Amino acid sequence: MTYDTWEAGDAYDAYVGRWSRRVAAAFLSRLARPAGGRWLDVGCGTGALSAAVPAPGLVAGVDRSAGFVRAARAAVPHAAFTVADARALPFPAGCFDTVVSGLALNFVPGPAARPVRELARVTAPGGVVAAYVWDYAGGMEMMRRFWQAATEVDPAAADLDEGPRFPLCHPDALRAAWDAAGLRSVSVAPIEIETAFTDFADYWTPFLGGQGAAPGYLMSLPPEHRSAVRDRVRAGLPDGPFTLPARAWSVAGTAAP
Ligand SMILES: C[S@@+](CC[C@H](N)C(=O)[O-])C[C@H]1O[C@@H](n2cnc3c(N)ncnc32)[C@H](O)[C@@H]1O
Repeated sequence: MTYDTWEAGDAYDAYVGRWSRRVAAAFLSRLARPAGGRWLDVGCGTGALSAAVPAPGLVAGVDRSAGFVRAARAAVPHAAFTVADARALPFPAGCFDTVVSGLALNFVPGPAARPVRELARVTAPGGVVAAYVWDYAGGMEMMRRFWQAATEVDPAAADLDEGPRFPLCHPDALRAAWDAAGLRSVSVAPIEIETAFTDFADYWTPFLGGQGAAPGYLMSLPPEHRSAVRDRVRAGLPDGPFTLPARAWSVAGTAAP
């Protein structure tokens, strides 16, 4: 059983949406696509990546969560969002110039090959398919610290730790998934940002919103276990403001002409 919860857009934005917007901007600037064209954002969530697509791109987005799609529609009114599954995109072949996915592919159930094949299918010949995922096993410190503390309190939490749970979130695995989908000129690169917190409450309170894997798990715990996890995380952090590094791995490839 997992606790990946995607329902309440506000709580997601407070937890990690605030950081995913930063990664989205860095990703798009590295991708350097020409202005305009038809874009698709798969696993769009509350619209962090869609919102950053450079104008005048025509943006469509899909996500399995109706709540997140509602939030995305409110946040990015010029884009067209639909509730749909990344494994069965409701679009004909070759109808987008750029197909992107932010922090989502690892959450799609089953082998990664299926959604990546779908991303490639709906991309026009010569178009680009690109994505990024958090480096859960190493460089995503705000979550790493949480899972470290959670497994010390409850060893069973090791099964839910996003590090070991998401083998796709490694450079070699991303490259292999893109190669297997027939994409060409595949490149993989890190995106590094800093997550800055005004104090421990700024770090911790969003975990109590219950959105995403770690907060979903936390809110399933009895109150005394929840407090024990909080106290362990807190013991390793300074009083006052602090920053933690966060790394995502990005991958990009070109659809065969
Ligand atoms: C961590 S959020 C990322 C959201 C957004 N792209 C961002 O960068 O903030 C992961 C998203 O993947 C979506 N998701 C999970 N499984 C999916 C599937 N099978 N098809 C479409 N979306 C899916 C979730 O609903 C959630 O919105």
